[in-house]
Amino acid sequence: MAKDKVVVVDDDEFMRDSLMEALQRPDIRVAGFGRAADALDAVSDGSASLLLTDMRMPEMDGMALLLEAKRLDPKLPVVMMTAFATIETAVEAMKRGAFDYVMKPFKAEEIDLVVNRALEHRRLVAENDYLRDELAKKFKPADFVGKSPAMKEVFEEIRQAAPSSATVFIRGESGTGKELVARSIHAQSPRRNKPMIKVNCAALSAGVLESELFGHEKGAFTGADKRRIGRFEMADGGTLFLDEVSEMDLGLQGKLLRVLQEKEFERVGSSETISVDVRILASSNRDLEQSIEAGEFRQDLYYRLNVISVELPPLRGRKTDIPGLALHFLQRHRLEEGVRVREISGEALDLLTRYDWPGNVRELANIMERLCVLGRTEIITAQQVEGALPKAAFRGQAAALVPAGDGEGGGAFRPRLLDEVERDFVKATLDFFSGARARTAEALGISERSLRDRLKRWNVAD
Ligand SMILES: Nc1ncnc2c1ncn2[C@@H]1O[C@H](COP(=O)(O)OP(=O)(O)OP(=O)(O)O)[C@@H](O)[C@H]1O
Ligand SMILES: [Mg+2]
Repeated sequence: MAKDKVVVVDDDEFMRDSLMEALQRPDIRVAGFGRAADALDAVSDGSASLLLTDMRMPEMDGMALLLEAKRLDPKLPVVMMTAFATIETAVEAMKRGAFDYVMKPFKAEEIDLVVNRALEHRRLVAENDYLRDELAKKFKPADFVGKSPAMKEVFEEIRQAAPSSATVFIRGESGTGKELVARSIHAQSPRRNKPMIKVNCAALSAGVLESELFGHEKGAFTGADKRRIGRFEMADGGTLFLDEVSEMDLGLQGKLLRVLQEKEFERVGSSETISVDVRILASSNRDLEQSIEAGEFRQDLYYRLNVISVELPPLRGRKTDIPGLALHFLQRHRLEEGVRVREISGEALDLLTRYDWPGNVRELANIMERLCVLGRTEIITAQQVEGALPKAAFRGQAAALVPAGDGEGGGAFRPRLLDEVERDFVKATLDFFSGARARTAEALGISERSLRDRLKRWNVAD
C-alpha cells in the first residue's frame, strides 16, 4: 500500500518531534520541517496528502504557508495547530481554506482523529475527480463520430478552442451536433470539473430569460417570492452555454453584452454587483449576419460572441459520415434489453447515405433508434430503412395521407401535421389576447421573436 505523506511544520523542535512521534503509523510517512519555506518544497509537487502546520512561526507564518500551499496544491488538506491565544486566526484560516484546526496542547488521539478525517477527505476528493474525468471522457470526440474532412476540421477547432476561456460561437443547422460541440469544448477545458450550464434562449420570454440568466431578488417582480440565483452565478468557474442565442430579445442582448465586457452584473431588482468567471459558448442555427442586417441582432454582441467560430456542416454536405454515424447509433441500442437487431445490411446503409437528412444527425439518430427498437430480425434490411424514412419525395405529402373529413365532431381521431396543430393553437391564443403579441408570446412561453418567426412562416398577417 502506498503510504500517505504527511508534512509537519513547527518551529519548536520539541513540539515537532513529539508530533512526528505521535504520527508513527504504518500507513503514513512523515516529513518534518522547522521552516515554512522548506515545507513548501515538500508540497509543491502534489505528493503530500496532508499538511499540519503551526500557526505562529518566525519568517513565514502558518497563514502565509496555508495560502501558498493551497496555491501550489489546491486539493491539499491543511490542518492548523494553534494555541488558544490565536483561535481567531484559526477561524480566519478555516475561511481561507484550512481543512481543520487543533488547539495546543493536544492529545495523540486528537491528532489521530483529525489526520484520519483529513486523509479520508483527500481520498474522497481524488475519487470524485476520477469519476468526473471518466464522465468527461464520455463527451470526448471519441464519441463524436465523423471522419469527413469537414468534421476533422471541427474536431481540430474544438481541440484548439478548449484550453482557453475564449468565447466560441457554434453555428449549424438544427440537429448537426452544436450541443455536442459545446459539451466537448467544456469537457476538454480546464473548467471540466465545474458545471456547464445551458440556457435555451428560444424557449423563454424576455422577462423570464433575464431572471433565468441573472437571477432576481425577492420581491423584484410579482411572483418573485424568493431570491433566485441566475445561471451566470451557477456557472461561476465553469461554462455557460447560450443555446439559440439569436432568439434573444434586443434589450436583453444589450445586458448580455455588458456582462461579457465587464464580467459583472446585478440580479433583477438588486443593485449589488456580482462578479463571475464564466466561459461563454453560444449557438445559433440561423444566419446571424442576416439577423444583424434586419436589425434583430446587435452587431457589437455578435463580435463579442464570435471570437472563435465553429461551423457544423449539414449532414447532406458530409455524406461519408453517414455510415459511421448509423453504426454508432446501432451500437448504442444493440445492448439494450429487448433489442434483437445486431447489424445493418450494406444496401440499407446505401439507402441511408442517399437520403438528404433535413433534420441532420438528430434525424438519423431517431431513425436508427426506431429501426433498432422495432426491428424483429437480427439485420436491418434496405426494405426496413425504406419504410422508416419519411420518403424524401413524400415530404409535404403527409397531409395527403390524412383521411378526408374533419372527423372532430364524432370524436374520431384524425391525424394531423404537428405544424398545423401548432399554427391553429398559436392563432387561437393570439385571438384570445386580441392580437397582443407580447402577451401571446408570454402565455405560450416563447420569445416574441420566436412568435414573430412562426407567424411569418405561416403567413399570418400582422
Ligand atoms: N457527430 C456526431 N456523432 C455522434 N452523435 C452526434 C453527432 N452529431 C450529433 N449527434 C447526436 O445527434 C443529436 C443532435 O445533436 P445536437 O443536440 O448536438 O444538435 P444541435 O445542433 O444542438 O441541434 P438543435 O439546433 O436542434 O438544438 C444528439 O443526440 C447528438 O448526440
Ligand atoms: Mg441544440
